[in-house]
Amino acid sequence: MRARLERDFDRFQRELPRDFPAHVRETYGIDLTARYAGELVPHPIGKGSGQLSLNAGQLEDDAAAGLAFAVLKTVIAEDETGAQSMAAWAIHETKMKVERRPGGGGRAGWTVTWKGRGWDRSFADYLVLVRAGRDLTRAGRLLVVPSVKYHLPRLAEPFREAEYRYTTAQLAGAWREPPLLVEKDFSPTLAGDALADDRAQILRWLREVPARVRAASPIPVRVAVKLMNARFDDAFQLEMMKAAAEADALVCFNRLFDAARGVAYGGGDLSDRNLRVLETFRESPGSRPGSVGSLTPHASAGIPELTGTGNIGSGRMILEYARRGCESVQVHTFFQLPLAEYPATHGSRPQRALHALVFHPRDGLIAAMLELEARGALERRSGELRFLDLPAHAHRAG
Ligand SMILES: Cc1cc2nc3c(=O)[nH]c(=O)nc-3n(C[C@H](O)[C@H](O)[C@H](O)COP(=O)(O)O)c2cc1C
Repeated sequence: MRARLERDFDRFQRELPRDFPAHVRETYGIDLTARYAGELVPHPIGKGSGQLSLNAGQLEDDAAAGLAFAVLKTVIAEDETGAQSMAAWAIHETKMKVERRPGGGGRAGWTVTWKGRGWDRSFADYLVLVRAGRDLTRAGRLLVVPSVKYHLPRLAEPFREAEYRYTTAQLAGAWREPPLLVEKDFSPTLAGDALADDRAQILRWLREVPARVRAASPIPVRVAVKLMNARFDDAFQLEMMKAAAEADALVCFNRLFDAARGVAYGGGDLSDRNLRVLETFRESPGSRPGSVGSLTPHASAGIPELTGTGNIGSGRMILEYARRGCESVQVHTFFQLPLAEYPATHGSRPQRALHALVFHPRDGLIAAMLELEARGALERRSGELRFLDLPAHAHRAG
């Protein structure tokens, strides 16, 4: 199998097979099926919300590359008059700088330095993008999911329901067929904002937002909450996860915030923190999803499913998240590296990234899963190694 993997890695440098998960299954007996917000996807690698999902062309490239899903850039909610209580997040900024950012212990990592925030064009333009995403989803080419920053009130204030209602109804209208999947973003700049100084205020948002979105939607909706890395300790991260128990899925966790420079950042510090908190969550009582081993969404058992994000640049790192309970991952920075950093010689960045993440003979997903098998940490069932057994084992162990 090792020799096969070396050969596949070399020959796929020019182009990945059209249906690479089928190839992986046939050749290695590995079933990469994963899950995002209750939807089964052919493998765990999706694109996180951001500057790489701003237009239909990018989505088309993602579908052609074979990404499992893509989350659209976060739009700022508005009411029927166009008023946005979170307007401070709808700012325009195009310049991004991709930089190396080693983590603790000097481990390699990358970050994107960028001062922008949410979607900065009209909501009507966003809905055009949602429709393009819907068509790709319907065609079975790429699961596309909108992302929203809804109003977050101070403790004594009510939620602005008009913004929840109008924005969600418009998204549902564009999506048409249920269920509507929506990600709610709690961003690093929010973590750095005075609004997020108060722990009780943050916990109230997390407790109430999923139900607000559900109540606002005219069609059944699944809500994934993308949690921020708050400026408090790890114990508070855990409290946030538990407060958001009404969500269908939790995306763990958005980038860190560098208060001195006023920018969000990623790299090794981000994955260190995310993995540490997920590990603690796994070990804490009540973290076991109800759906392990079955296909029902976790929310039915009152415990959200987990999706990992942060410094994912190898299959090994995907497994680090999976072994702590994540059923899929969302990548951003690794899709932005200088071309010379990818071992593939041809193709779009999503294609080259998939090639490295899946087929790298030492650090790719296949190599890392075969290694787990050799160590006795993952067993074949009906002759196959299954990606989804990893998060399932995580919870059993926890
Ligand atoms: C330039 C940039 C813009 C981003 N914008 C958003 C956003 O609008 N909404 C959101 O939920 N996450 C946003 N993210 C976070 C990414 O989706 C991702 O979760 C995070 O960067 C961690 O993954 P990574 O280390 O692979 O970059 C952004 C990230 C970057 C680098």
